[in-house]
Amino acid sequence: MKESSVKSFIEEMFGWFHAHPELSHEEHETTAKLKEVLSKEGIRILELPLETGVVAEIGREEGAMAALRADIDALPIREETGLPYASKNEGKMHACGHDFHTAAVLGAALLLKGREDALPGRVRIVFQPAEEVSGGAGRVLATGVLKDAGAIFAIHTSSLLPVGTLGLSPGPVMAAVDRFVLRFRGKGCHAAHPDEGVDVIPLLAHFIGAAQTIVSRNADPFAANLVSITRVMAGNTWNVLPEVAELEGTTRSLRKKDRTLIKDRLYALAKGEAAAFGATAEMEWHEGPPPTVNDAAWTEFALGVARAQGYRLQPAPKSLAGEDFALYQEKLPGVFASVGTGVSAPNHSPKFIADPAALFPAAGFLAALAERALGRMS
Ligand code: NI
Repeated sequence: MKESSVKSFIEEMFGWFHAHPELSHEEHETTAKLKEVLSKEGIRILELPLETGVVAEIGREEGAMAALRADIDALPIREETGLPYASKNEGKMHACGHDFHTAAVLGAALLLKGREDALPGRVRIVFQPAEEVSGGAGRVLATGVLKDAGAIFAIHTSSLLPVGTLGLSPGPVMAAVDRFVLRFRGKGCHAAHPDEGVDVIPLLAHFIGAAQTIVSRNADPFAANLVSITRVMAGNTWNVLPEVAELEGTTRSLRKKDRTLIKDRLYALAKGEAAAFGATAEMEWHEGPPPTVNDAAWTEFALGVARAQGYRLQPAPKSLAGEDFALYQEKLPGVFASVGTGVSAPNHSPKFIADPAALFPAAGFLAALAERALGRMS
């Protein structure tokens, strides 16, 4: 495809991806569409044991390797944007801009394909499934497809930044994400005879208050940490004290030592408070992705490329949301940049809109980044 045709082509593709959102691990149509375009453009598709998602390669079949990553999944949200290319799949929406990432990385692939012979190495183009449920990056890594890659790059839409702006900083930019479920077991009894039971309701109330002292009293006040209790359940009527109380929540942190501290303190408080009230505690811990940490040297490099591409630069909008791009960064240096897609309702809102005007510059940035990264590696 001629470079001059890429802009309108990826804008059209973006509209198609937006209209056809698919949930995590169900991205079959999206994968088929990507494979169709890639093969039509003569881009090598790698044979991998991935049910959804696809990895392609441009350049020589050996030598320095850089990677570009897009996530392709959508969310279970009913779209309310009123866009002409709004979701055709009821109850599903690209509300996090993964359609934008997919179209931008596809655009970068097309641009790189146009200068394939001049590439000093190869670029692996990763269209990753299931970012929203954090399963996709692990699956891609398990195929071994990135084991020779020297660096990996990805963008994320930002509804906080205007078009033409790129938010990028070295170090941690998104959080480690863990989830916990805690069950207190006491002894149920008549509400009029609390002395005959072990009441888990005051225990629950004490625990909820105490859990917030982990961030305010135990963790470094200069570090960003968070404990959110998001679901509380106990009892089912007015005159019975329940036997069991359950709560669920999430913890966020930017550093490994804080992540461990929060987990240890939650366990200690749960066990200690339960014991003090004569009850028992049981906790389930579900570990999510680690923090997204941008490699300092490659970030400096990417900032230079972005400046040369005409982006206005600013520090990354920090967030304690999670991102499974972090899993790649555990294996190889990576840079995760926020691309301004116009100020709109926030990501994950049914009114979230990414302005297609930001698409072609993002594709150009990613292509230049990958190409110049190869030059830096060889
Ligand atoms: Ni996202």
